[in-house]
Amino acid sequence: MTPLLYVPLLLLLALTPWLLPALRSNNQTSTLRRLLRLGKKTPSQKPSEILSLRVYPIKSCRGFEVPSSKLRTTGLDLDRRWMLVDATTHVFLTIRQIPEMTRILTGISDDGEELLLSTADIKDEKAEIAIPSRPSAAWLEENTTLASDVQIWDTVTDGYIYNPSVGVNQLFSKFLNRDVVLVYKGPTARILKGNGDPRLLGRVQSTNFPDVHPVLIASQASIDELNSRLKSGGHEAITIERFRPNIIIRGDREAPWVEDSWKTVRISSPGTAGGEGEDGASLTFDIVARCGRCQVPNVDPVTAEKHRTQPWDTMMSYRRVDPGLKYKPCFGMLGAPRGEGEVRVGMKFEVLEETTGHQYIKGF
Ligand SMILES: *[C@@H]1O[C@H](CO)[C@@H](O)[C@H](O)[C@H]1NC(C)=O
Ligand SMILES: *[C@@H]1O[C@H](CO)[C@@H](O)[C@H](O)[C@H]1NC(C)=O
Repeated sequence: MTPLLYVPLLLLLALTPWLLPALRSNNQTSTLRRLLRLGKKTPSQKPSEILSLRVYPIKSCRGFEVPSSKLRTTGLDLDRRWMLVDATTHVFLTIRQIPEMTRILTGISDDGEELLLSTADIKDEKAEIAIPSRPSAAWLEENTTLASDVQIWDTVTDGYIYNPSVGVNQLFSKFLNRDVVLVYKGPTARILKGNGDPRLLGRVQSTNFPDVHPVLIASQASIDELNSRLKSGGHEAITIERFRPNIIIRGDREAPWVEDSWKTVRISSPGTAGGEGEDGASLTFDIVARCGRCQVPNVDPVTAEKHRTQPWDTMMSYRRVDPGLKYKPCFGMLGAPRGEGEVRVGMKFEVLEETTGHQYIKGF
């Protein structure tokens, strides 16, 4: 053998310990995951910042802005921990069937201990009901009943159903003119499906009562672009609240809709380059899918009036961008946080990885 041949041989020997595990894991799951990563590109997007944070404690009901929040792997603190279900069937209710739900108002007490619930037709303070924002086991034991048949989309999960003694069920049933009950997410994890399925995400992650994934991130630059189209079509501009995002970033006015290709994003305190999570300064999200929209954004969140055509028609004309969502326009990106920590308005937002491979998957 000529000495030159030893070089590749030595290299191979040196790399064996690293190559072996990679070859061993060459099963279907890892092949699928690798295929999904093929579309990855190096990022070209300018850093941006968080403009606003929004939580919607009760699914489909009116939420509110917060200056800061605790990000959990399940989503922002308080976000969609509650929902309303039919009192008899325990099937979830949303603005899709009941636009009036957006006139159920939620707020938080100054000390953060209580969630304040009321309805838009009642200005009288006395009609507000306060419930613990983080109910203790003892509170739940005495004031709720754990049900295992709470249905959200095609998932059956558990939830603590508020007892009549709390008063919320009567308040909301009267307002919506049907029998509903309030539910707090139970202890059983609602594991992500579709694009967030553990086989694709590479970890088991769960969420409370959003439709599918923990966090919706949206761009102000993109709603501004949509609004310029709405206005030139003779329609009124709409607020980003209609899309019910959690994290709103400023984005780049020169480049709206670049979020379509986000793959991995990071938020961090300006000027710090710390590690992940609690003590570190940055939080990374896997962007699992685009958010396909129904006609909920046609509903004015203040009046609950549903516009017959807008913004749906305008969006359908140019926002059908996901190959997995042929008949739905997209707005915003669905993310799964890798860690937990404090998020604040003004934090830096960066795109770490982009992809051309997003394709919405409903489930397996
Ligand atoms: C396939 O590989 C992944 C890691 O790449 C591993 O987590 C999983 O357990 C493997 N599955 C089987 C059936 O070997
Ligand atoms: C149950 O709720 C009531 C208020 O509705 C409260 O006064 C009581 O302390 C709660 N029970 C427990 C065990 O916390």
